[in-house]
Amino acid sequence: MSGFTKTLSALMLSSASLVALHPAVAGEVNIYSYRQPELIQPLLDAFTKETGIDTNVLFLDKGLVERMQAEGVNSPADVIMTVDIGRLVEAKDGGVTQPLDDAVVNKDIPAQYRDPEGGWFGLTTRGRVVYASKDRVSDTAITYEELADPKWKGKICIRDGQHSYNIGLFASMIAHHGADYTETWLRGLKENLARKPDGNDRSQAKSIMAGECDIALGNTYYVGLMLTNDKEPQEKEWAAAIKILFPNTADRGTHVNISGMALAKNAPNKDNALKLMEYLSSGEAQQIYAEQVFEYPVMPGAEPSEIVKSFGPIKPDTLSFAEIAANRKKASELVDKVGFNDGPSM
Ligand SMILES: [Fe+2]
Repeated sequence: MSGFTKTLSALMLSSASLVALHPAVAGEVNIYSYRQPELIQPLLDAFTKETGIDTNVLFLDKGLVERMQAEGVNSPADVIMTVDIGRLVEAKDGGVTQPLDDAVVNKDIPAQYRDPEGGWFGLTTRGRVVYASKDRVSDTAITYEELADPKWKGKICIRDGQHSYNIGLFASMIAHHGADYTETWLRGLKENLARKPDGNDRSQAKSIMAGECDIALGNTYYVGLMLTNDKEPQEKEWAAAIKILFPNTADRGTHVNISGMALAKNAPNKDNALKLMEYLSSGEAQQIYAEQVFEYPVMPGAEPSEIVKSFGPIKPDTLSFAEIAANRKKASELVDKVGFNDGPSM
């Protein structure tokens, strides 16, 4: 089957499932989600129980913005849910969101975690932290800046430099230090790599367990997911081999990214969409959601899960997400410019 046919049949399949998503039926709200349905379902069930409004979720692993652009004014989407500031900004820039200025939402979500123009809203955060070998790393503190120190030569593992999780971090480095510093820093980090960037965040923990490297960059929630993975119990061993170091705790804090939501441009069930967004913003919902996915609620004082608490306290960098978003393109250019994905020059 050609790639085109595959894509087409995938689209047709999803369109068939969309028959269930009646546009503009009272008592419903339609969600287009990059998040796995099982991660958000408990929360949506609680919303339905409280409001009587049914939710329909269309899960997409890519092409959400393109799909909504193609659907245009006929799009049944009311609310978009996704991870990563990059994807939230992509939705806004792609013209598939509409601004929301809602007193309840704005009160529950601190300003730094939402678009100043109301195009997107963060609900939970995840730290981009250092996974360090329990056996071989005695350090109890670290900074992102130190990752370029020759003391770590040949000891660092990381996934693709162009992955949105790394781009978010590199964009924050540009925001704090400027592009020239960040370019030099990226070259230093690249020379400290044990191998070419490869794998996902979880596999970096596996590499540490295997002795390929001593430290790696990874997101906080994967440690919770690995520690509780009964289906793939070997991941529990990967997680048990590492400890989390929260970078820059002594100064600006650890880089965090967000998962969030946006109001769809043509939301046919706009009133229900607003009710859902107000519900998801509430401290209680943030807390349920954060526990479900091992993330941190954005509302100050709302607690993460016990497992996440066991990692130790996080001090999040207070840089605004709008500013991180603004530096993503430059970060991506620098990754290419320094040949980051080629690995160390040796
Ligand atoms: Fe992830």
